[in-house]
Amino acid sequence: MTNEPLLIQALNGTLTPRVPFWFMRQAGRYLPEYKAVRGTTSGFLDLCFTPEKAAEVTLQPLLRFGMDAAILFSDILVIPHGLGVHVHFVEGEGPRVGLTNTRETIEALDLSAVRQKLQPVAETVKLVRKKMQEDAILGAALIGFAGAPWTVACYMLQGKSGKEFQDARLFALAQPLLMQQLIDTLVVATADYLSMQIEAGAQAIQIFDSWAGLLTPAEFEKWVTLPTIRLVQLVRKKHADVPIIGFAKGAGIGLPDYAKRTGVNAIGVDQHTPMEFAIAARAQDKQAVQGNLDPLLIATNKNEAVRETKNILSKMKNTPSVFNLGHGFIPSTPIENVAAVADVVKAWRR
Ligand code: CP3
Repeated sequence: MTNEPLLIQALNGTLTPRVPFWFMRQAGRYLPEYKAVRGTTSGFLDLCFTPEKAAEVTLQPLLRFGMDAAILFSDILVIPHGLGVHVHFVEGEGPRVGLTNTRETIEALDLSAVRQKLQPVAETVKLVRKKMQEDAILGAALIGFAGAPWTVACYMLQGKSGKEFQDARLFALAQPLLMQQLIDTLVVATADYLSMQIEAGAQAIQIFDSWAGLLTPAEFEKWVTLPTIRLVQLVRKKHADVPIIGFAKGAGIGLPDYAKRTGVNAIGVDQHTPMEFAIAARAQDKQAVQGNLDPLLIATNKNEAVRETKNILSKMKNTPSVFNLGHGFIPSTPIENVAAVADVVKAWRR
């Protein structure tokens, strides 16, 4: 027998007696207790950089639903902030990021500042681990995370959220050498930041490549697969034993190649990808899958969400797996729908 959290066992390729679960954006605006804490802060980044409050909201969903993992409360856009780029969030609209699309702005990125500027995030990690032990949230694990270089670059090149991130793609096509320089800088900063989280107590990490699906196959190779390979190598050089989840949203038929060449411990599966396709896409039997309930289904139809949850779990029967959404919760998701799905996952046995 092992005392290792179920999540870590599954990520390391074990067929656990039940499938561990957590949800992307599990700490967020669908929770009244999140909104209450958020209301005491002067802005979203203020919450990210106030360890006591960030630790509290990190654990809120576990106290309510009993997930097998907490995900660190922070954001992928703290990396540009750590590199010295101006980042802020406009209420009701989303992020604004200083444009980093010239030789000058890319060369000004300051790798030496990342650890110190993002130190509050490490403090949050330590606090969460301490609270997990004190409050006996037994068996749960803490997941750290970062955005993948391409997805973070999207915001640095677009300046804000987008549907297609055309400016980012146009820049990469028109200025491939500068794009490479930006991506290389992000690989190093992100490896450093993830190592810091692991050293503070994160037990697994997830790399969010939310916009991987916008790229052509050739671009996917250059800006998703190759940078992720290097990022994984850099993290493993220092922390070989910490499992890594790679979530390349929209990878589609590119998933088998991503799974094989990045060698991540687990592949995140979005709701557009059939779970059986993802299972077959794995590089080897011990590679785990994680996903992939439709966040809009759970937001609208409890019974259908429960039915689909059972369907996904039955597909996971013979594969090391983690149950999750295919992307994050939307703020209108009813809490009772989340509770119903959580109950089904907790009761299911392999
Ligand atoms: O519970 C968790 O998942 C942990 C915390 C977390 C947040 N963002 C908190 C957050 C995580 C893992 C993220 C990742 C993130 N952030 C991604 C990758 C995952 C994905 O959703 O594709 C991306 C692309 C971002 C960038 C980002 N952060 C945007 C575009 C926005 C604004 C849009 C929105 O949903 O409001 C955010 C804000 C944000 N990050 C919120 C939360 C809870 C809501 C802001 C608020 O409370 O005011």
